[in-house]
Amino acid sequence: MTKLLIATRNRHKIEEIRAILGGQFQFLTLDDFPEAPSVIEDAKTFAGNATKKAVELAKWLGTRQSKSEFVLADDSGLEADALGGMPGVHSARFAADDSARSGNTPDADNNAKLLRLLKNIPAEKRTARFRCVIAFAPVSHVKTENPLPVCYEEELKSLTFDGACEGKIIFAPRGDDGFGYDPLFVPDGFEKTFAELGDEIKNKLSHRAKALEKLKNHFSRLPI
Ligand code: IMP
Repeated sequence: MTKLLIATRNRHKIEEIRAILGGQFQFLTLDDFPEAPSVIEDAKTFAGNATKKAVELAKWLGTRQSKSEFVLADDSGLEADALGGMPGVHSARFAADDSARSGNTPDADNNAKLLRLLKNIPAEKRTARFRCVIAFAPVSHVKTENPLPVCYEEELKSLTFDGACEGKIIFAPRGDDGFGYDPLFVPDGFEKTFAELGDEIKNKLSHRAKALEKLKNHFSRLPI
């Protein structure tokens, strides 16, 4: 079975990814590699951050006796139209000072800031979407003496798959499931938030589910 490192420590993301990808892979996570380097997410796009995470960790694994064959990295976030697409790539650290290098902030603080900024925005203008980009990079155990200065060889071999889920932001949090902005987000066609709908429904319609479906379709056509 193909061994796949899911490059996150976010338990919710890990569970969603495992549930959606199913039995095709044997999963490892960053919890299996406490010494793994932390990757600074300073790209301006979800695709840039996801690729950076997948490629840097694949390179690192390539220097070790690891049996992982691929690294999967997810970068995702929420875009509120009334805020010009914020918090976007800053979703995980929205409540922090606007420094790209500051750490993640608690979900409750991020949600409170989102509600504060949307305070005077009426229901019909509270449209938003979750976006996700999944990057998938092969672990290469071949050493490159002089890596190319502009892009890594691994970067050229990495693949990305994207997904989006449209919806709206409500006025106060509802529900206990999920994580992040789930208690504030009602997907189109539903009355309940992601945090009320629960994993089974979320995993059928979420941004992450859509990106992972594309990945699954891609690999169902390959002999890995
Ligand atoms: P990342 O781990 O750097 O990709 O940060 C993603 C951030 O976006 C999370 O910390 C959440 O705040 C938000 N986010 C991404 N996906 C979801 C989701 O499925 N539900 C709720 N919030 C999400």
